[in-house]
Formats: sequence, structure tokens, C-alpha cells
Amino acid sequence: MIGNGSDELLALATRTFVEPASGKARESRSTIQYFTPSYSLYPVLAAIHGAATRTVRLAKDFALPDLTALRQSSDWDFQAALTFITTPNAPSGRAFSTRQLESLYRQHRGVVVLDEAYVDFAEENALELALNYPHVLVARTFSKAYSLCFQRVGYFVGHPELIAALDKLRDSYNVNGLGQIGALATLDHLPYYRANFRRIKATRARLTERLNAIGFEVLPSQTNFILARPPEFPAKKWIEELRRQKILVRWFSHPEVKDYIRITIGTDTEVDALVQAARSVLEHC
Ligand SMILES: Cc1ncc(COP(=O)(O)O)c(C=O)c1O
Repeated sequence: MIGNGSDELLALATRTFVEPASGKARESRSTIQYFTPSYSLYPVLAAIHGAATRTVRLAKDFALPDLTALRQSSDWDFQAALTFITTPNAPSGRAFSTRQLESLYRQHRGVVVLDEAYVDFAEENALELALNYPHVLVARTFSKAYSLCFQRVGYFVGHPELIAALDKLRDSYNVNGLGQIGALATLDHLPYYRANFRRIKATRARLTERLNAIGFEVLPSQTNFILARPPEFPAKKWIEELRRQKILVRWFSHPEVKDYIRITIGTDTEVDALVQAARSVLEHC
């Protein structure tokens, strides 16, 4: 099923599979759950819909929590109407292995959406599982790896019964024509895009190595950005210092990631400029 960006599909899944909460009691059929940190849209969708939320914090290195521990904790609801899992994750950049995801969502009774917005930069994808499990949907987008974010084209892959349910709520003309033409055109040029993915991954490895060498702690990434804990000063000060040198990187105030900065992988020249600027911050501040 094609959507007006994958955001539309995530919203449609919320409207299709989750009952708005009626009273104070937290019921599984009104529950949306996800790990934190992950995509900031999930709590927004839950709030708009009047759904209850459950969240479980990822491990310190942003890995999935241990399944046995999850089963024992009362924080994770294996019956929840809708579970969102971002893989590879944002903003950590970390991917979860397909086997690990499979053992997790095999235990779930509700719908599980694997949000693979960044999957083209990863080593693995979970598409095969959406084809094999009737309660799993994989969400993909042309916005990231295919640079079509303004055209708004995303898609869900999943069991025909889930897709048919979503289709009932879909707007008749939810995806614009130009977007459809643009998305189809990218598929005619896959070798070009695949070469781009390889280039971005190579630049990511280079940036990781160079930042590690000057004291940054860079988390292994499978996306087109890295999350790095900078040395010497708080992350927020790094943002300001880099901005002074006309380099824009992101900082998030959430407790789990406030000590990190997120850097999008640019060209090799941009990466060199960033490393140069970081060196000068270390020398002069
Ligand atoms: C994890 C994740 N999922 C989905 C999206 C939405 O992408 P789009 O609606 O452009 O397809 C984003 C965009 O930032 C994202 O980071």
C-alpha cells in the first residue's frame, strides 16, 4: 500500500488498529507502544488519537532490551494494539537484527510496524518477515535514500487482510501523481541509487574513524547519520561552537540522548570541514 509519505501510513495504522482510550484504565486495544528513544512521531500520533502509550527504554548502547527481561517487566504489553519499532533506529542509527526482531514480535498479539525508513543504509532488512507473519507491517519511504521527501511517497508491505483494513480508511487520492512518477523513476535507476548508498556508507565509515581519532565516541550506525558523544564539553555547547563555524548538526534534549550530537553524512568535503571545525573547537575552547 502506497501512502503520502510513510508518516501518513503510520497515522493510518493508528486509526485502523487502535481504539481511542475510553476511561482511565490502560487497555491493550487502546495502546500504542514503542522503545525510547525512537521516532518522535509515535507519541504525537498516540496523543492525537487519544490512545494510551507504553514505552520501554532501549539498553544503554541503544540495543533492544533482553526478551526475557521484557517478558518479566510489566512495562511492555505483548497484547498492545500497535507496536512501532524503528529499525535502523533514529536518532541512535543502530539497527536491530532480523532474527532478534522476529523472536520479539512472534510473541505479540497486536499489529507490529517495523519502520524501515533508513533501511537502504543498513546491512539487513526485515521485509521477508512482513511477508511471512500476518500481524507485521514493514514501512518504507522514498524520502531518505531516494531524496524524494517533498514528493511524499512511502509504502507498507504486509498481509492482505491488514492492507485491506488500512485501505478502507485511506483517502481516495492520497498520493499525488508527480510523487508516483518520481518514485517509479527512481526504480528505473537503481544502480545509480545503490552506488549512492555505498558512497554514503563509505563516508560514514571515514567520518566515524576520524571522529573517534579526536576523542568522539561514535556509535556504530546503519543509517545516513551518526550519533556521537563529543569530548571535553557538553553536547549542547558543541552544537553552538559548530554553528559558529557554519556547521549545522542536531542535538536532542531527551535524557537518553542529550550527551550526543547527531551528524548527517554529507559529502567527503563536508565531512572534512566538520572534522576540521571539531579540531579547532578542541584547540580553542
Ligand atoms: C523513522 C522515521 N520514519 C518515518 C519517517 C517519515 O518519512 P516520510 O513521511 O517522509 O516517508 C521519518 C522521517 O523523518 C523517520 O525518521
